[in-house]
Amino acid sequence: MSQKAYITTPIYYVNDVPHIGHAYTTIIADTMARYYRLKGYETYFLTGTDEHGQKIEEAAKLRNKTPQAYADEISGKFRTLWDEFEISYDKFIRTTDAEHKAGVQKAFQVMFDKGDIYKGEYEGHYCVSCETFFTDTQLVDEDKCPDCGKLTRLVKEESYFFKLSKYQEELIKWYNNDEKCVLPRGKKNEVISFVKQGLRDLSITRTSFDWGVKLPASMNDDKHVMYVWLDALLNYTTALGYGTDEKNMDFWPATMHLVGKDILRFHAIYWPAFLMSLGLALPKHVAAHGWWTRNGEKMSKSKGNVVNPKEVADAYGLENFRYFMLREVPFGQDGDFSQKALMDRINSDLGNELGNLLNRIIGMSGKYSNGVINSKDVTTFHENELSAVDEILKNVENNLLELQTNRYLEELWKVLSIANQAITVHEPWVKIKEGKTEQALALVALVSNILARVSILLHPVMPKTTMTITKAMGFEINTASYDKIVVRKTFLDEFTIEKVPPLFPRIEEELMAQPAETAPVVAPQQPAKKEKKETKNESIITIDQFFATALKVGTILEASILEGSDRLLKLKVDLGEAEPRQIVAGIREYYTPEELINTQVCVVANLKPATIKGLLSQGMLLAAKDKEGLCLVRPEHPRQSGASIG
Ligand code: MSP
Repeated sequence: MSQKAYITTPIYYVNDVPHIGHAYTTIIADTMARYYRLKGYETYFLTGTDEHGQKIEEAAKLRNKTPQAYADEISGKFRTLWDEFEISYDKFIRTTDAEHKAGVQKAFQVMFDKGDIYKGEYEGHYCVSCETFFTDTQLVDEDKCPDCGKLTRLVKEESYFFKLSKYQEELIKWYNNDEKCVLPRGKKNEVISFVKQGLRDLSITRTSFDWGVKLPASMNDDKHVMYVWLDALLNYTTALGYGTDEKNMDFWPATMHLVGKDILRFHAIYWPAFLMSLGLALPKHVAAHGWWTRNGEKMSKSKGNVVNPKEVADAYGLENFRYFMLREVPFGQDGDFSQKALMDRINSDLGNELGNLLNRIIGMSGKYSNGVINSKDVTTFHENELSAVDEILKNVENNLLELQTNRYLEELWKVLSIANQAITVHEPWVKIKEGKTEQALALVALVSNILARVSILLHPVMPKTTMTITKAMGFEINTASYDKIVVRKTFLDEFTIEKVPPLFPRIEEELMAQPAETAPVVAPQQPAKKEKKETKNESIITIDQFFATALKVGTILEASILEGSDRLLKLKVDLGEAEPRQIVAGIREYYTPEELINTQVCVVANLKPATIKGLLSQGMLLAAKDKEGLCLVRPEHPRQSGASIG
């Protein structure tokens, strides 16, 4: 029977659209799921959305929607993004699914029957944003949430409690006996000291709102709905059919719950305690990552600096973005997103080291042997390089198993650099001139074998790019090639390398506007059919083609009528350059010069200059036109002259 792996992401709240933090958790989890599949494990990868609770109920009300309609809409956005990101999930769970609700009720009943749930009264402070209860002593400034700083609400209501305190000792035993149950280790120590301070029983039902899972009918108490964290955590088992059709429960216990540091306490304390009460095995690893900031600042909607993962992937390439996120930060620590850091990773690690190695192999083998690569003499000439590579790769996968993705990638890059250096040191072009063809060809074969091994190990992080590389080398990445080339270190059979266009074209300039606050998270809906008929026959362009147009914000400094034309106005527009530009625009029928002065417009700044009525025109204004007339397209809020648009 094959081994099993079960990987999960947190289920995302539907009060917000997906951002880089969500993408990070999901991409790490996707990488781990792909890694286990590569090793031949039967793998189940779960993600989904967390749709109940006061926070969602209130967010829906604000938008005049029912909680269900609102949850449907946002849950759909998460699913669409993960599909666009080719996240290899096996199930997308929603806590509003009927099977999930039935499973949660079953779990409540089991815990109740065991004597772990009792009825009492809760009095305390509740943070709706974090969906968490706090005691007086935990609050900041007497009434603020210690986690997010928002105002808490004083709640006094009848509640069912879970006997969390009963499990304190058993939890400590788990942490002590199972070294890697909580990762990284530093975070585990924080959890242990929290538990050692003493655990209080946990209020697990609410009566002050409705939007949640009802108690099991046998409780005969329909005033209560379940506390959203009890409901949400149970998704990891209900997704496998707990309490309904249990056919996938043999994937339990989870191999890895991936979570952010802010929700570690729920996963490393409450969740294992619930599982103990249910008589289910505990997860093998609960792994907590850090948070992302942007250009050194905390991201927030009000600052408009939240990184939109779709926009980054569209501009810089999905797999480059995956590589960046996993390479840039040590797991567990906070990371900073900046386009500069991303560009550096693409240009230097990916372009100079990985892409360049492939190009050099294609170039050298093309010149020396018509692209044919044969490994027969590699051991004779390159014992040293081979053992250096083996030494690095010997334990490299342990880094991944402990989520140290940055170290894992660093080690793979050390191996690539052995290959690149071998080319520099052995100078095969000199060997060819000296007639030592065998040695030159052995060198090319050495670096090809190194590239093959690295590509397989890199596959979980960059699935498509690595497939492109190995297909050029005549093989596919799968469990068989992993076993053969990585585990057994077998050399490649003779093959003829195929030419591939450069994988990582150099990026010279930032490709996204700063900060990217307006881009839609998912592709805008298709226009209604009637409108579509009226539009021109549009051809699809690539993002690169779009970015070839330099769109900039301009401020109109001067505007005047052009004698002899009733259509044209002559403008002086500041684009943040040394001199304002002269632009001749056909807008006289719609605007007077006076109303244009000191307003902002969107300018195509890299259009070839033209001479109109004898005047040089150095740009074009964007305008929207229909049968009602024409209007200029302008930034919604004033922006600096020259700010880029895109
Ligand atoms: N619904 C709960 C999880 C329930 S799991 C049983 C929840 N949802 S969330 O949508 O608010 O957050 C989901 C994940 O996104 C968390 O792991 C959180 O750490 C992560 N992130 C949210 N903002 C983040 C950053 N700025 N950076 C990195 N991750 C962050 O919590």
